[in-house]
Amino acid sequence: MSTPLSPTAEGVLHVQRPEHQQWWRQAVIYQIYPRSFADGDGDGMGDLPGITSRMEHLADLGVDALWLSPFYRSPQKDAGYDVADYRDIDPRFGSLADADAMLARANELGLKVIVDLVPNHTSDEHAWFREALAAGPGSAERERYMFREGRGEDGAQPPNNWESVFGGPAWTRVRERADAPGSAWAEDGQWYLNLFDSSQPDLNWQNPEVRAEFEDILRFWLDRGVDGFRVDVAHGMIKAEGLPDWTGRVEMVGGVDASQQESDDNPAMPPYFDQNGVHEIYRSWRQVVDRYEDRILVAEAWVDPLPRLARYVRSDEMHQAFNFAFLTTPWHAGELRSVIAESYQVNDAEEAPTTWVLSNHDVVRHASRLGFDGITDKVGPNKGIGPSDPQPDREKGLRRARAATLLMLGLPGSAYLYQGEELGLPEHTLLPSHVREDPTFQRTGGSEIGRDGCRVPIPWEAGRPAYGFSPTGASWLPQPADWAEYAADAQAGREGSTLELYRLALRVRRERQLGTATLEDHPDLASPDVVALVSKDPAGTRADVLVMTNIGAAPVDLPAGWTVLVASGPLEGAAVPTDVTVWAQRTG
Ligand code: NOJ
Repeated sequence: MSTPLSPTAEGVLHVQRPEHQQWWRQAVIYQIYPRSFADGDGDGMGDLPGITSRMEHLADLGVDALWLSPFYRSPQKDAGYDVADYRDIDPRFGSLADADAMLARANELGLKVIVDLVPNHTSDEHAWFREALAAGPGSAERERYMFREGRGEDGAQPPNNWESVFGGPAWTRVRERADAPGSAWAEDGQWYLNLFDSSQPDLNWQNPEVRAEFEDILRFWLDRGVDGFRVDVAHGMIKAEGLPDWTGRVEMVGGVDASQQESDDNPAMPPYFDQNGVHEIYRSWRQVVDRYEDRILVAEAWVDPLPRLARYVRSDEMHQAFNFAFLTTPWHAGELRSVIAESYQVNDAEEAPTTWVLSNHDVVRHASRLGFDGITDKVGPNKGIGPSDPQPDREKGLRRARAATLLMLGLPGSAYLYQGEELGLPEHTLLPSHVREDPTFQRTGGSEIGRDGCRVPIPWEAGRPAYGFSPTGASWLPQPADWAEYAADAQAGREGSTLELYRLALRVRRERQLGTATLEDHPDLASPDVVALVSKDPAGTRADVLVMTNIGAAPVDLPAGWTVLVASGPLEGAAVPTDVTVWAQRTG
């Protein structure tokens, strides 16, 4: 039993409990997007042998764990988030033997591996869905999914008015599918729910067979040696009783129109997200993973407000949840300080680690997002940036991205990095329409550009075809012509490069155990322009570390008695310039 802590004193954001030493409470976890990390066989699509061959880069970087986006058998209509077989590897990415080799290499290098699990929906090429179509209305096979009769004359209207997160209706009529076998299905008036693409039918999580199947899938991968699961759309599996109408649309990343408040469970969310019933699922999954040592569950749940998100990390549910409130906070010191404080408040109450994340495969890379002023009003983190949109200021974006990352890595808790951010990669904002693959782009008729711009294969070697991504120079999305300067080999060993900044920050974070620290406001520095937090060793053996970000227009002096350990950009004498973060050690 942990000892209760006294109420948090003024200015104390987080008190580190001595017993909270598990690896996942402070881990820095690097997201690999398999399509775009490294291509071993030269077909232009990344793969598992490619990942294995480049894994030393990650060990050198100094991360603790990897999270891989889906590599399962899939028609790739949503880049692998449409799974046709949860127990097999897609041939584009390799084989189960390649997965074992990848896990073994990670193990050798001391890196944990988390895999993606997609339980809200399957692909329409999954055996269950094919069986459901074939078996027809009223069958047990259809009960695994959300099939319903339509409304109106002849059931020609969808069962309710929900819209897909990717745009367009959230229902597809069986007989209107392109592959409907004419007369055989002519009488079949049923519709199925697809909160995402029509190729991603939602599963029926009220059906015990679905629950049993996924517990078995968890065990399949746990037995193979994975260290945990990132759970896709963790807030979506249970829908409100009766599937009530809800007028509005949830965007891929977080945006819910708050005027539409009709769900009883969480008035800030629609009736298909954050229903109380999802928690029962995670309680039973927790029992499954707890039979293995040190394995974790991580929620991808775009849930507001933060106290609702914290329910996913109650002690008998998941271990972590992505902190998207931090990711979506504008570049503003007061707002950043508030979201940091609230994140600790709600997670500490559940004795769960807070997580931090700035980029992933669904949002505009933070080196570009922060290259606008008032970014969240302008492009939103998720909408994507196209050639005819206002373009981010690349220099400003990178400067702020480096400062934001150094702030993030200075915070206690677990941090997520997205492949390529350690190179300072910007979004590819000039992709032509015909190469785009994100279903959001198609389903909104191009009014939302979508997520391809953050998914472009990453550059390894400046002088090689496809910047070393693939031995043949092939690349499933074209890389910009000016990315040589971002290549890993162009940055390695170059003082001040973004890669060296990440390496240094991760080394110092580990040495100073910043991930398991107590955090307080600096008593004198806080202002609307500055985030200034002091990281303290709960055992009192290492010197305090000041984490200070200046977001104001004028430089701010580093106070006396502190010596710089790491800086995201050059200082001006003893002053921290605009859009720079420093870590400094107390010496006086
Ligand atoms: C969230 C994933 O991160 C995203 O890439 C995917 O499109 C949706 N879930 C649907 O699975």
